[in-house]
Parts: sequence; C-alpha cells; structure tokens
Amino acid sequence: MRELRGNQNYPTCPYHNWRYDGTGKLLGVAMEKGLKGKGGYPDSFCKEDNGLQTLRVSVISGVVFGTLDPSAPELNTFLGPRISQRIKDICHKPLKILGYQRQTVHCNWKLFVENNRDSYHGPQLHSFIPQFGIARPADQVAVEVDGANALLSSWLETDEEGNIVDFPPQQGEFQLEDPSIVEGFEALGALQLSVISVFPASLFTCIRNAWSFRRMIPTSPGTTNIEYTWFGYEDDTEFEQECRLKQSNLLGPAGYVAMEDAEVLEMVQNAISQGDMSILQFGGDDTGDTDHFNSEASIRAFWKGYCEIMDIPLQGDRS
Ligand SMILES: [Fe+2]
Repeated sequence: MRELRGNQNYPTCPYHNWRYDGTGKLLGVAMEKGLKGKGGYPDSFCKEDNGLQTLRVSVISGVVFGTLDPSAPELNTFLGPRISQRIKDICHKPLKILGYQRQTVHCNWKLFVENNRDSYHGPQLHSFIPQFGIARPADQVAVEVDGANALLSSWLETDEEGNIVDFPPQQGEFQLEDPSIVEGFEALGALQLSVISVFPASLFTCIRNAWSFRRMIPTSPGTTNIEYTWFGYEDDTEFEQECRLKQSNLLGPAGYVAMEDAEVLEMVQNAISQGDMSILQFGGDDTGDTDHFNSEASIRAFWKGYCEIMDIPLQGDRS
C-alpha cells in the first residue's frame, strides 16, 4: 500500500490487515469474530457498510481522471471542450511511459500553479531558451480559460501549404556544448508548447517533444511535492524517444527551466511569508481568453475557482 507505483488487486490496510477488492469493497477483516469466541466485532457489524470511499473515474483517450467527490460535474463539462480536445489530440495513439521523477519545491502549491500559468515570466527568467534555440519564436499564441482550468498554447509559423517555416538556429554569444539537446521532431503539427493546467493541481505539459503529466502534492504550507510522469508514443522511433528524453532535461528536479522556477518560487514564498502583500493586475482584471501571453487572466481564473470552493467571498469579480 505504500509503494510509489505498482498494481495491487487486493489493497490491504497495513494497520489491521483489512482487505478490499479493486472497487473498494471490504472482503476480509482480521479477527472479525475475535479469537476463540472472545472479543471481535458485534453481530451487527456489516462488511458492506465499511468499504473504501469510491473513486469516480472517467477516461479521455486512455487518460484516467478520478474524483472522490460524487457531486463533481461530468469530466468533459469540468474540463471544457477545448481542453478535452487537446488531450484527445495529444493522446490520439497509444502512449508509452518513459520515466518518473519526483521533486520537492519549497513553496505553497498555489504558487506552483501560478508559475505554470504565468507566461509573463518565461522570456524574463528563462532567457537561455531563445538564446540556445530550445524554443523558437512563436507565430501565434493563445490562452484559453474554461472555468478554473487553463490551456496555454504556442504555434510555429507555417507557410501556405501548412509546412513549418524553417528557423535558423540562433547564433548568440554562447553556444551549447551539446547541441543535440535542441534536436527534435514534428509531433503535433506547428504546436510547440501546450500547457494544460487542470484545476486545482495537475498539469499536462508538452514543450516541444518533452511531454509530461505532473501532480502537485502539498506536504506543508511551504512545501509541495511534484510527481512527473514522462511519456511519448508507443510507436516512437529510437531517435524520437532519445529526443524526448534529452529534452526532458528542461524540467524535473535538475531541469534547466524547472530549477530556475524552483529557486524564484522559494524566494517568493519566503517574501510573502513575512506577511507583506500587494495586488497588481497584469493584462486587465478579467478571466477571459487572450491571443497573447501578456495577461494573468488564467491565474485569476485559478483564484476565482479556489475562492469558490473555499467559500471565500470574491471582491471586484468582473468575469
Ligand atoms: Fe518558468
């Protein structure tokens, strides 16, 4: 029950050895009738009434979502049609798990959510990405907000036939020692960045060919565990799989991008823990879609969703 991953047909509680089936039904209770006629549970004890809480699951293209909330809306309604469609686009053929990573970031989980919806900081904090040609200048970008969920996308320029326009590698002052890190292949057409931020704390991130699913698990007010599952397609060639693995160095505990984020998030956490605060609104005060990255609309959508489920009154709601 405490393994990080695996397959368990009969989950068993390590404390008193109660045994369940895959649906949560209680199958066995140690010493249910006591021992040698002494002790145990009363005759009124009923295993049917003591099963596990049932997880309600829904599947989109093989991706399983679960909730413990029986009153949660239907999955496609919750995600919205655009996020559901993006998941279908990415998962249109069988996936292959390429690996797992775990990382502790020293910030509240909500800061990590903000960070992954914050398109403003990208060119500022991660200046090495354009410098080394890891991501190419976007021809078109979009931030789409459905409920408290967000979808950030950027596309490369295409010609009239729909072919991606060639982009010469950037020749800056610095050069990569190993340029193979920026080698890639076309997998989702002109789409080079897709970040699905599922409310409250999950991420489906495709940065060029490095694709991952991330779960944020709060472990204290100031620490959050991030669990990565890296994936590609089952029919990826050896070269394509190698590209994905090399590009995965962007994220993860020592990722070029992720370690910069982890450091600034810790700085912000330390600063706001002092109690000082101020509010500035970047790109308006609404939560609508944008065709640019110069807005915090998707972050406001997160906070709106958070306030709703936490019963915190909204002030100045303009959505
Ligand atoms: Fe970042």
